[in-house]
Amino acid sequence: MKLFLATNNKHKIHEIKEMLPKWEIVTPKDFNDTDDPEETGMTFEENAYIKAKYFYDKYHLPTIADDSGIVVDALGGMPGVYSARYANLGIANCNSSDEANRVKLFKELEEVNKKNNDNNRSAHFACAIAFIDEDGNAYSFVGKTFGEITYEEIGENGFGYDCMFLSHDLNKPFGIASEEEKASVSHRGRAIRKFKEEIDKKYN
Ligand code: IMP
Repeated sequence: MKLFLATNNKHKIHEIKEMLPKWEIVTPKDFNDTDDPEETGMTFEENAYIKAKYFYDKYHLPTIADDSGIVVDALGGMPGVYSARYANLGIANCNSSDEANRVKLFKELEEVNKKNNDNNRSAHFACAIAFIDEDGNAYSFVGKTFGEITYEEIGENGFGYDCMFLSHDLNKPFGIASEEEKASVSHRGRAIRKFKEEIDKKYN
């Protein structure tokens, strides 16, 4: 069964392919397609749907898209849906490097902790998966995983904010977790497992 995965993020492609071994995953790159629809939604669910719908309308294949990010309580939920472009917010309307985003998050959180005279580092990753089936029916699945922002980068595994996220489930930062450990508790793993449950019922 062919499934169009609406992302060019190689880390997400790898993680999702590993979790969906029965599906033949194709991505925009397989169609030499560099389109990147603008994420204008205010929620992860809205942005995932925007991406899935854009590519479903183009290729008419069953399509999934994910939108994800890190939500930091002391920062009022930031960077949230702006996670990929956090360091560029208000400067340019494009994604910033993972490193620049982490530097900004450490700085902003340190300032807020200082201002509030506390050390609230609580955070969670969230992932929304939008799935559009061959008939155009849309489904949404959300996964979350909770933890703390560390005081420095720890480990080199994963991507994005992984090396600054201490997972409550694993009791270690994602930056030193194996792929299997991360997938067993991650926001994306949880959303994909909900997707799989629903989809297995539909296609088996
Ligand atoms: P998206 O491509 O708009 O969903 O952007 C998500 C952004 O959130 C990425 O650029 C990462 O910085 C961050 N992010 C999402 N999922 C993860 C994860 O599993 N680990 C670390 N960072 C993540």
